Amino acid sequence: MPGLPELNLILLGPPGSGKGTQGERLQEDFRLPYYATGDILRAAVKDGTEVGERAREYMDRGDLVPDEVTIGVIAERIQGEEASDGFILDGFPRTVPQAEALDSRMSELRREITAVILIDVPEEEILRRLGGRRTCEKNPSHIYHVEFDPPEKEGVCDIDRGKLIVRDDDEPEVIRNRLAQYREKTEPLIDHYDERGILNHVDGKQSPDEVEERIHGIIATLRREEEEGM
Ligand code: AP5
Ligand code: MG
Repeated sequence: MPGLPELNLILLGPPGSGKGTQGERLQEDFRLPYYATGDILRAAVKDGTEVGERAREYMDRGDLVPDEVTIGVIAERIQGEEASDGFILDGFPRTVPQAEALDSRMSELRREITAVILIDVPEEEILRRLGGRRTCEKNPSHIYHVEFDPPEKEGVCDIDRGKLIVRDDDEPEVIRNRLAQYREKTEPLIDHYDERGILNHVDGKQSPDEVEERIHGIIATLRREEEEGM
């Protein structure tokens, strides 16, 4: 029996829309590598690498890190053996030049983006979500919310007992700048992918389970269309 075609997914959406929450679930559901530029850059800052040194000041302000840094980080990963059956990207691309760099790298590899999932969430909800977010110090893809998704024991990760922390860029002033950056530099990607016919909207106000189910529905439809040769 032939294997399933590769699945190359992009999760797009404003800060706090639930990209990380869904990315963590989808990587298990589809057994694909998950690359979140925010997590990768935060780890680089923590480890004091050259990339981390360059990224730190931008991230602290909620500005975008220069394109050449993030493009390098992702290009390296998608062409690796691990990503040969597909990948899930969270937080990349975030600017038109990043999207163009990804398009040309994918065509060099003779591959295509399968779908872009845009998680829509209104601004007032974003502020509530980021205000109560806690992430695991050991593994940042373990994400909680003090009200909407609390851990069993306050301040402790259910999965690996790591300490739960508030992200440095979840300060109100920095959140405002992250949202402004999203509107100015990332929203143009909605048209970029819509024009290519691969943009899919998901209502991110629903529960995490409902959002996940909707994303599965989108992928199931794409698979069916592929099988029917549409
Ligand atoms: P990054 O880490 O990507 O931050 P972001 O895009 O601002 O997004 P967040 O991680 O804040 O939100 P999320 O959508 O993952 O939501 P989450 O699932 O956590 O980037 C950080 C920085 O890195 C950038 O500012 C920039 O400096 C730099 N950077 C990264 N990529 C870059 C790039 N490509 N180019 C340049 N610079 C780059 O959920 C949020 C909260 O809501 C959680 O508490 C969660 O429990 C809760 N929640 C989630 N879903 C639901 C739901 N359905 N209902 C109720 N609560 C929910
Ligand atoms: Mg995230």
